[in-house]
Amino acid sequence: MIDAYGRDINYLRISVTDLCNLKCTYCMPEKGIEKKERCDILSLETMEKIAETAVKLGITKIRLTGGEPLVRRGILDLVQNIALLKNKGLKELGLTTNGLLLEKYADDLKKAGLTRVNISIDSMDPAKYKEITRCGNVQDVLEGVRAAKEAKLFPLKINVVLIGGFNDNEIEDFVAMTMDDDIEVRFIELMPIGEAGAWGREHFLSNEEILKRVPTLIPMPFKGHGSVARLYKLPNSKGKVGLISSLSSHFCNYCNRIRITPDGKLKPCLHSNIEIDIRNYGENGLEKFLMDGIMAKPTRHCIQNSDFEPVIRNMHEIGG
Ligand code: GTP
Ligand code: 5AD
Ligand code: SF4
Repeated sequence: MIDAYGRDINYLRISVTDLCNLKCTYCMPEKGIEKKERCDILSLETMEKIAETAVKLGITKIRLTGGEPLVRRGILDLVQNIALLKNKGLKELGLTTNGLLLEKYADDLKKAGLTRVNISIDSMDPAKYKEITRCGNVQDVLEGVRAAKEAKLFPLKINVVLIGGFNDNEIEDFVAMTMDDDIEVRFIELMPIGEAGAWGREHFLSNEEILKRVPTLIPMPFKGHGSVARLYKLPNSKGKVGLISSLSSHFCNYCNRIRITPDGKLKPCLHSNIEIDIRNYGENGLEKFLMDGIMAKPTRHCIQNSDFEPVIRNMHEIGG
């Protein structure tokens, strides 16, 4: 499906729940969030129908996100049913998780047909991890990473949100993880979305800092369309380092994605408040719902503009 600016849209991200078993400072309010009424959340069946329609329209990659997707009841059935679309043109089914429940689920996810996982870890220091997530134990996440490797959910990526004055002292350690392990560690620039509004700007640190701290990183060829990360590697390393510079150098020209929120809104762009509501489309209107969303994609985000209107929703509803 080609959007109004000639971009091929082949990637669908479905946020399957806004709930999470963590409360990261930049994502969730401290008091937590209220559980939505069941009728306000898309059913798994509707998500499956959206996925099926999307694949029919040319989507080849689907990623399940959250909140934390593994806390949604029935997640394994959802993975299994969406994975059946591999016979109809789906090439990749991924999941982005905080990793806490991966030790429990990695094997079953693989068996259900999941291709790969991206795992978020903002600090390897137990005290700092607890501070940023307000409740998590980093050791549980590391067990999850091990389980994902054992289940061969490859390629495996680790997402690190770079937070100035908080985890920038761990840059070298995160980069060093790629030396002997075939993983991709990606540093994400903190985006001023929802809870991270003003706080995000205060703690923003450009990804340029990583290249300054680790000058031995060698740039790898840019893959172009659909890539959010610029890739680098250490000399002779098995793994890679990715820089997701959402703010300092946006990649909107290469954007290939749309997102669905748990309450049934299609977000054509992460940084825009434009939303298409599934409730305005009947049971047979899913094709039009997706097409309208794709055609509503703006050419690029305008975060740097003085009249930029920040995104109101929190990341736990959008799924990154
Ligand atoms: P891959 O399939 O491994 O490429 O995954 P991904 O990078 O698409 O997914 P993931 O959920 O790991 O997203 C990583 C982060 O990249 C997100 O949390 C966002 O911070 C950022 N990101 C993803 N998509 C976009 C986008 O369209 N625009 C911007 N600005 N940032 C994005
Ligand atoms: N800025 C950058 N990344 C964010 N994430 C959540 N909120 C933000 C934000 N404000 C990241 C999570 C996870 C991914 C899906 O999105 O840490 O790695
Ligand atoms: Fe949960 Fe991810 Fe938000 Fe942290 S960033 S609270 S892990 S949804």
